Amino acid sequence: MESWFNSSSSPPRPSKGTSGRNLGPQATTVHTTTALQSSINAPVTALRRNVHLASHQTLSISPISNPASASGSTVSTSSSSKATIPPTTKRSRYTSEPYTTCNGRRYIADLKNPYPLPCDIPELNRQNLRTVLLTAVYGAPFCAPSLSSKPPKTVLDLGCGTGLWSSTCHDYFTRLGYPDVEFTGLDIVPIAPDLKEQGVNWRFVQHDMRRLQLPFPDESFDMVFLKDMSMAMPIAGSEFPIFEEMLRVLKPGGVIEIWESDATIRALLPQPAIPPHTMDHTLQQAIATGTYPLIPGTGFSASQNSYVQDYNAWISKALEKRMITLLPCTVLSPMMLQEEKLADCGNRRLVVLLGEVRWEREGVGGRTHEGRRPSDSSVSSISKGKGRQIERVVLTDEQLALRSTALLTFVQMVESLEPVLKEASQKGQDEWDRWWAGMMTSLFEQKGVTSGEGLEVGSWWARKL
Ligand SMILES: C[S@@+](CC[C@H](N)C(=O)[O-])C[C@H]1O[C@@H](n2cnc3c(N)ncnc32)[C@H](O)[C@@H]1O
Repeated sequence: MESWFNSSSSPPRPSKGTSGRNLGPQATTVHTTTALQSSINAPVTALRRNVHLASHQTLSISPISNPASASGSTVSTSSSSKATIPPTTKRSRYTSEPYTTCNGRRYIADLKNPYPLPCDIPELNRQNLRTVLLTAVYGAPFCAPSLSSKPPKTVLDLGCGTGLWSSTCHDYFTRLGYPDVEFTGLDIVPIAPDLKEQGVNWRFVQHDMRRLQLPFPDESFDMVFLKDMSMAMPIAGSEFPIFEEMLRVLKPGGVIEIWESDATIRALLPQPAIPPHTMDHTLQQAIATGTYPLIPGTGFSASQNSYVQDYNAWISKALEKRMITLLPCTVLSPMMLQEEKLADCGNRRLVVLLGEVRWEREGVGGRTHEGRRPSDSSVSSISKGKGRQIERVVLTDEQLALRSTALLTFVQMVESLEPVLKEASQKGQDEWDRWWAGMMTSLFEQKGVTSGEGLEVGSWWARKL
């Protein structure tokens, strides 16, 4: 694979993060965090704890020099004790030079690893924000219905990153009266803080998931969780070997759950009516959070925003080149359903809009209901001739905060993906910087995503037979 890290001839620039270019995202962070705190206290508590520790850990991280980790996977059960798992493959170059820098951002230094996202504080904060956002819109850190009544004893969080999901899940189970659930986080880089110090029954295993097998015996875990890993490895049928491994290490009766997001952005069309008899708790949760579930009749159009169009074209080209699945949400359902070892397959797919949408505000579509209106104060009726009542959505502060967070995480992702997007666009640095400034103005100042542009996210779960 050709080097995109070094593709820019410009000298390294100071880290942009969310602070260097435009006040838009910063301002949004403040608004978002405040409102999110009031709506989802528990995940935010975990986030605060995790962000602090992850930042500390990341700042102090050094090349992976432990000789034990050179020959295999390394298990950290606390900051002071380490145990080595027998080697699964040859020595890794991460041991000597794990990171490389591009435009002030830090990336994993392995040209054979297709993973295009950085491994630094702004990106870790973005991933944490996504975890908080999704936990809020799903209403819990998991969607498999059986887990609340029958919590797992052992959980594997694959590609755990900062470990915020494990930490949030620990808090959730603790509130249910199960504080001892054992969490194992696995990642190629040791960026997760030692959650043991925060009371989580936690161990971290450093392992490259491209190396099969995973360093665990068969049937080790009651739950195996995988979140936002489609940019790290292909997520599709026979090219998703880690799926087989997830099933191998899962106990019979155990739950597999996968959260994913599509890489491109489409515009959601006005929604079809929701028949009252189908109004279950997931639809009520969607209404409460101002998100839209994918239901029969849900339609999309292309985004009208030229910057979103550019991004879509470039990310498609960049991910195709790296053989990364562009639309994981479309392939996961058939994959789970076709797996003979799985039963009770379910999924929740949602669109989290990136802002206020014209058709909601103007009452020309949006969340319409047959027969009765939901008991949701954010919906008001307006007359549309001949006595017809059309619902006009007025978003609450919390719903607006969730959308601002979604927009923020999208913009931060574009920023994180700058090297690969710039390469795909064939823009030079100055040209790219102008494009970036134009995108920021369009999205934050001109409210350029009011046609229904949104993140398409989903959760898929099943039980192992
Ligand atoms: C988009 S992040 C998701 C992190 C976490 N699951 C979350 O949702 O916050 C992808 C994670 O995959 C890890 N990763 C990338 N390539 C990997 C590999 N080959 N093996 C294991 N982890 C990998 C990265 O270090 C990063 O933490």
